[in-house]
Amino acid sequence: MIERFSLWDRSMAGIHISSHPLVRHHLVALRNPQTRSPEFRRTVRNLTLLLASEATAHLPLRTVEALTPLGTAPGGMLADRVAIVPILRAGLGMADGLLELIPDAEVWHVGLYRDERTLQPREYYNKLPRQCAATLAIVVDPMLATGGSAARTCQILHNAGISRLIFIALLAAPEGVAAFSASMPDVPVFVGAMDEKLNAAGFIVPGLGDAGDRQFGTSEPAGDHSVAIP
Ligand code: PRP
Repeated sequence: MIERFSLWDRSMAGIHISSHPLVRHHLVALRNPQTRSPEFRRTVRNLTLLLASEATAHLPLRTVEALTPLGTAPGGMLADRVAIVPILRAGLGMADGLLELIPDAEVWHVGLYRDERTLQPREYYNKLPRQCAATLAIVVDPMLATGGSAARTCQILHNAGISRLIFIALLAAPEGVAAFSASMPDVPVFVGAMDEKLNAAGFIVPGLGDAGDRQFGTSEPAGDHSVAIP
């Protein structure tokens, strides 16, 4: 069956669920338990490029004259000073992709892990600069499950004086999106797909497992993947 969608045609207030065919295509590999870390990381990067392109589609520009070999052309450059904020550790792979699109962005690392019992985020690292001069922060994390980690990170950024935020995730659960938008109504959320639900352990179902472990190979047996040369 061939499915046809227009981009972002299922937008709710502030929540943008991608229906880009390439996003849907790459999510199949990302979800597959047979996908090993190298391909998983490449896929995270590709999905980030696609989602980031949509998430940044309406950023303001300042008008410039672009120099060409034959003269000048009217041009535009990002008006914002951008900070990319990966939530450690799973957000790291997304930050790499986003940096390719916005190479001048600063990268501010925030480390959170979820307490397995309470599912509440615990902060263990914060590398925001002393003077936060960015005017826009783009927060990235592959998974928006209960929404606790996303909301805590946005609160940290608000407390640092950053009022304009965008959140990008690869997968989200409806419960988490609802909780996040209730606490951060002004932060637009761009996700690759909205899954069915959270399970009792707070994992997105059907989801893709643990995005951090799958990116960094910490859930895989070491294994020998060499090919014997006859
Ligand atoms: C995962 C994920 C998010 C968080 C989502 O990280 O990458 O940061 O859980 O859950 P929430 O929406 O319920 O807060 P995890 O705590 O497993 O840490 P890791 O990135 O180091 O693997």
